[in-house]
Amino acid sequence: METKIDEILNQNTFSKADLISLLQTDKETRNKIFTQAAKIKAEYVGKKVYYRGLIEMSNICSKNCYYCGIRLDNKNANRYDISDSEILDAVKFAYESNYGSVVLQAGEISSPTFTKRISNLLKQIKDISNNELGITISLGEQPDEVYQEWFENGAHRYLLRIESSNPDLYYKIHPQNKKHDFETRMACLKSLQKIGYQTGTGVMIGLPFQSYEDLANDLLFMRDFDIDMCGMGPYIEHVDTPLYQYKDLLMPIDDRFTLTLKMIALLRIIMKDINIAAATALQAIDPIGREKAIKVGANIIMPNITPGMYRDNYKLYENKPCTNEEAADCTNCMEIRIGITGDDIGYGEWGDSKHFEKRV
Ligand code: 5AD
Ligand code: SF4
Ligand code: FES
Repeated sequence: METKIDEILNQNTFSKADLISLLQTDKETRNKIFTQAAKIKAEYVGKKVYYRGLIEMSNICSKNCYYCGIRLDNKNANRYDISDSEILDAVKFAYESNYGSVVLQAGEISSPTFTKRISNLLKQIKDISNNELGITISLGEQPDEVYQEWFENGAHRYLLRIESSNPDLYYKIHPQNKKHDFETRMACLKSLQKIGYQTGTGVMIGLPFQSYEDLANDLLFMRDFDIDMCGMGPYIEHVDTPLYQYKDLLMPIDDRFTLTLKMIALLRIIMKDINIAAATALQAIDPIGREKAIKVGANIIMPNITPGMYRDNYKLYENKPCTNEEAADCTNCMEIRIGITGDDIGYGEWGDSKHFEKRV
């Protein structure tokens, strides 16, 4: 006999109530969601994982998000800013290793000098790689003209997490001021989409004060916004942040992990052909966390290619993996890891969002 969960899973559209009940399922029913997501992934995007070599350029940040270990007011963070030539060396490594794409990520800085620096780097990445490397950037909220300039210089994907689609929760995890404005974040996402970027967003899962309803709304937000890519991961408390005081309100870390897998699987089910990243934060909880995400719908992985000496300082959360490794170590390790999932690696391919191709 069909259970209620089977019935829901066989629907073509999902209501908020459906998503809430799916998010709350126990172990046995959870596997049904995972199986369905794996099937949809194979059918719509294929059993293939694409690499985005991640360069954490700098941990200098002008913001004060309550959850983040590199927030402006954390005096314990050891600040760094990698030189352009070191960044380009990492880019060469990605190109020579056939990674297909790179991601430039940094704390949020907005200035004419920074804008020019990024434009210049984008052009050089294209030069070094014969125009072959795809480029994703994740550099926070910026004026429309800046997004436009970077797009014209070769960036074609942008990641900007909404963190939570519920403004009330947003203001519990960010200061309530002009620099951390929910509407600005939303306007930035719209601007990125309008300019023509493949637009990625995401949320943290297991935040204090977050409900199942919030998470269901996050999924519906991503669907209604028509995003092309998603990166979402478990919230992991960091001792040097204001949100740490609420650690006793959190669900156990293993539950945050499982809930993240469910969110990934459900997003794959409701937005079949988007790109979904297996967030690094999953591996901070489970040594094969990212591989588990690939099994239930994720198709993008971001191997860290930040030069080894800087890695330990880009600590948004505790227990971040690969901080003692160099890029080449991760390459070898990743190949074995993906091999275990049974997926192929899309070496040398951009692996653009199929959803984007159809949307525009
Ligand atoms: N736990 C999990 N993810 C975090 N991020 C920042 N701090 C944490 C944390 N403590 C995520 C945010 C941000 C991305 C770069 O890292 O979602 O958008
Ligand atoms: Fe800065 Fe991003 Fe951390 Fe917020 S989450 S403090 S913007 S690096
Ligand atoms: Fe970095 Fe395994 S992926 S060491």
